[in-house]
Amino acid sequence: MRNKGRVLVVDNNPKVLASVGDFLKANGYSVSTADSPQQALKLTQEEIVHLAIIDIRLTDDYDETDVSGLDLAATLDPAIPKIILTAYEDINLIIRSLSPDRRGTALAVDFVLKRLGPYKLLEAVEKAFRSKVRLNTRMEITWEKGLSWRVLVEELKAYRGGDESEKRKAEEELEDLVVRLLDRATALKMLRVISGRGGCGVVIARPSFGRVMGEDMVIKFGPRKTVMAEFANYKRWVEPFAAVRSTQLRGEPVRTPHLGAIKYSFVGERPGRLVHFNDYYLRDNVPVESIAETLRYLFKECCGLWYKSKRKPGDRERIPLDVWYRKQLPFQEKHVKELRDVVEGLVNGEQPLARHFRRQGPDRLEVTLDGETVSLPDPVHFALVAKSSFPVPSLVAITHGDLNGTNILVDGEGKAWLIDFFKTGWGPVLRDLAEMESVVKFELLQTDDLLARYALEKASLWPRSLKHPIQVEYPSRLAGLGRAATVIQQLRALACDVAETDDPREYYTSFLFYALKEMAGFKPRVGAERHFSVGQYHAFLSAAMVCETLERWGSR
Ligand SMILES: Nc1ncnc2c1ncn2[C@@H]1O[C@H](COP(=O)(O)OP(=O)(O)O)[C@@H](O)[C@H]1O
Ligand SMILES: [Mg+2]
Repeated sequence: MRNKGRVLVVDNNPKVLASVGDFLKANGYSVSTADSPQQALKLTQEEIVHLAIIDIRLTDDYDETDVSGLDLAATLDPAIPKIILTAYEDINLIIRSLSPDRRGTALAVDFVLKRLGPYKLLEAVEKAFRSKVRLNTRMEITWEKGLSWRVLVEELKAYRGGDESEKRKAEEELEDLVVRLLDRATALKMLRVISGRGGCGVVIARPSFGRVMGEDMVIKFGPRKTVMAEFANYKRWVEPFAAVRSTQLRGEPVRTPHLGAIKYSFVGERPGRLVHFNDYYLRDNVPVESIAETLRYLFKECCGLWYKSKRKPGDRERIPLDVWYRKQLPFQEKHVKELRDVVEGLVNGEQPLARHFRRQGPDRLEVTLDGETVSLPDPVHFALVAKSSFPVPSLVAITHGDLNGTNILVDGEGKAWLIDFFKTGWGPVLRDLAEMESVVKFELLQTDDLLARYALEKASLWPRSLKHPIQVEYPSRLAGLGRAATVIQQLRALACDVAETDDPREYYTSFLFYALKEMAGFKPRVGAERHFSVGQYHAFLSAAMVCETLERWGSR
């Protein structure tokens, strides 16, 4: 059995600190003490505290107006339940401590008078642990081979390469999160870790309740702020839209000073059969018609209710598309320099594909491919530096915001399920569709042949209508090209419905920003030289070609 939990006692009287502390220790709790609000705040920002017991007068015992303990209760981490312990029997203070505010939360979960003795306090502590902290002290955790707390910590970007003591602290915090997240299970088996793309980690676990095995579940853990933002997004954008076929949140999030965790259902009735959209797309035995149908289902049914929210941007949303995308992707000022470096690396690097590109002045490039030489705008300059006047989105809607192939799962019937709502919220209505086109082109196309990719771009970036068929002309018949063209055509047909126009300019503009994001890449450097993948070269070329098209059409 684990420790019963950690209680922080805050009192300016050292005698009270010692006696309450000793008493709680004798009853199985770990205890930290603080004799000032500052000390209490500092402590809770660094160490796990499950419950705080706070005296009302922390500054001056003889000052009747001193309510510094209540002020502390209001500022101390809202995730920590508080008990007010005091010698002063004042009904107003009791009411103030226990009345819920506008959000329904009270300063404290209980109010205990010192004169009623230690057992009254213990009763309150035990009750708070049972109903609020819900620390599962008896759950036995076992691990599939190769897994451990350390493996989970290593999943978190924030701790990679970090120092040993921080990692150990994180392990301790993770264990604490898990035993509070699964407050009723008697055992938990950690089955496997799935690496995502954000700063969080995901572990699939199987709880049991006595002899009964529970359903497998997904525990998502990571930096506290990130997890809480995802939780808030889920509550706001997913839960009210029941038709969004998605994972379901189970229970409330839990937090430690640095980390947070939530638990989700493992999506689908037959968990073992769900695959990432990426893997589904790449399966030879899945016909392209099925993929097109999965996408129809995804955008019409899963995202359908979200898109029904579409409307003209309000006053504060009348922001040009480039500003929306810079904010959402995000491309902040500091990234402009990085992106320009990437372009220089792509054009002037040692890699063989660089030979196709040449700089032609500060804002243009010369590209030689397939026996022809064309002059194209430098896409970073065009989109991020020239401060061009991109239009404002004609419609905004609730969008998923991070629709890559690992955030869409596909079940045995080809139906799509959504996960990962960290970026969900209002955005240009075509945001998700344009992102999917970038996924199809830059992630799912499996060829090293830049010429083949160029052929796809030539076929897909000239039509002035989203309804125009996309036919790639390329001598050697590459299966992937035809598949990509058909899928892109489907995405654009869906875009046409959502946007209520076949004018592709807004779609192309959205796509441009996803191409830039892909171009930027997160690829490791090989030696001193940055290594660019063919997908990145493709994204670079594609971005430049979109800019050229937009420039020609005078969309600026
Ligand atoms: N509810 C779920 N059901 C099944 N698999 C899931 C679920 N949630 C996450 N996963 C798996 O974990 C991976 C990472 O989860 P995700 O929420 O996308 O995290 P990240 O923010 O790191 O991308 C997903 O790509 C998916 O494979
Ligand atoms: Mg993800």
